[in-house]
Amino acid sequence: MRINGKPHKTIWLNEDGWSVDIIDQTRLPHQFIIANLKTVEDAAHAIKAMLVRGAPLIGATAAYGLCLAIRNDASNEAMEKASDYLNSQRPTAVNLRWALNVMRNHLLPLPEEKRLNAAYEKAALIVEEDIETNRMIGVHGLELIRQIAARKTPGETINVLTHCNAGWLATTEWGTATSPVYHAAKAGIPIHVWVDETRPRNQGASLTAYELGHENIPHTIIVDNAGGHLMQHGKVDLCIVGTDRTASNGDVCNKIGTYLKALAAHDNNIPFYVALPSTTIDWQLTSGFDIPIEERGPEEVLMMTGVKAGGGETENELITIEIAAKGSPAANPAFDVTPAKYVTGLITEKGVVKATTAGLANLKSELSNVA
Ligand code: MRU
Repeated sequence: MRINGKPHKTIWLNEDGWSVDIIDQTRLPHQFIIANLKTVEDAAHAIKAMLVRGAPLIGATAAYGLCLAIRNDASNEAMEKASDYLNSQRPTAVNLRWALNVMRNHLLPLPEEKRLNAAYEKAALIVEEDIETNRMIGVHGLELIRQIAARKTPGETINVLTHCNAGWLATTEWGTATSPVYHAAKAGIPIHVWVDETRPRNQGASLTAYELGHENIPHTIIVDNAGGHLMQHGKVDLCIVGTDRTASNGDVCNKIGTYLKALAAHDNNIPFYVALPSTTIDWQLTSGFDIPIEERGPEEVLMMTGVKAGGGETENELITIEIAAKGSPAANPAFDVTPAKYVTGLITEKGVVKATTAGLANLKSELSNVA
């Protein structure tokens, strides 16, 4: 997708041919900084400190992190150790485990001297496949948007509500939840996105709004509590969110607050879709309530980072302020689980499937990439 009119990636090989470049997402939207990863520790830090985030991009970064580890030591023991280390950085998004499994399954049967090249090739393939997967999510999601458009007055705007950032910054291209939106805009369907700010880290306000703005998609940032009100007043035609891990019964784990949006959508008869690559499905789990929920630090709730209002000379300088009563503790569960019964459908690269055990079993039979 584009930044200032120029196509950009979220992860790519540096021109040195071996280190890895990423956009430091902790600085967006105020600063555009490229970070260079040279070691497995750099990759692990980028994942944990959320320089990269979003389930598919975490997976791609882990795959390249393993490449960086193999540069030093391509033995089985070193690979297993690096893989466990990378996998432990964030617990909820299953794409991390998936990508590392794909890499290990591919590399372990090879002789050590062949592993390095093979690792870089496989990591590049994971990125390439994610791009195509997300494109196809958009193609299938566009059909849903067309169906909704057909029920409205010709030319009337379709209003989509999304939560967190399941956009191209969370993936390698297109995004998951945003891919149908980008495809609809390209097809000439008037579309507008309600962007939940997504406290506490504000991925909606800082990342989704940033990328929609750079793609000239009409959008409006709303506080997390506004969605239900907008739905009650007929201002939302459909919700599309992403997911960090979906269980094989269709329960969806996504950024904290997703569940409340699903409840409001259900109460207002508004379709609630989840867009996901099949690599985000945890086939081993039969209930979403077995998904580990990341608990992040209280400082994310008690403080906010941004730039000084009004700018001036310090226009892009990031500052952190305290916003809470001194001494009060904070809890910060980062994800929640939306039971499958509230999910209208799962938009995957293979098509829209029911969020049920049977729907997902059908999908699984079509897949070749279950790791
Ligand atoms: O904590 P984050 O920013 O990594 O959480 C990301 C989300 O919850 C996204 O909505 C989800 O990963 C889908 S990414 C395509």
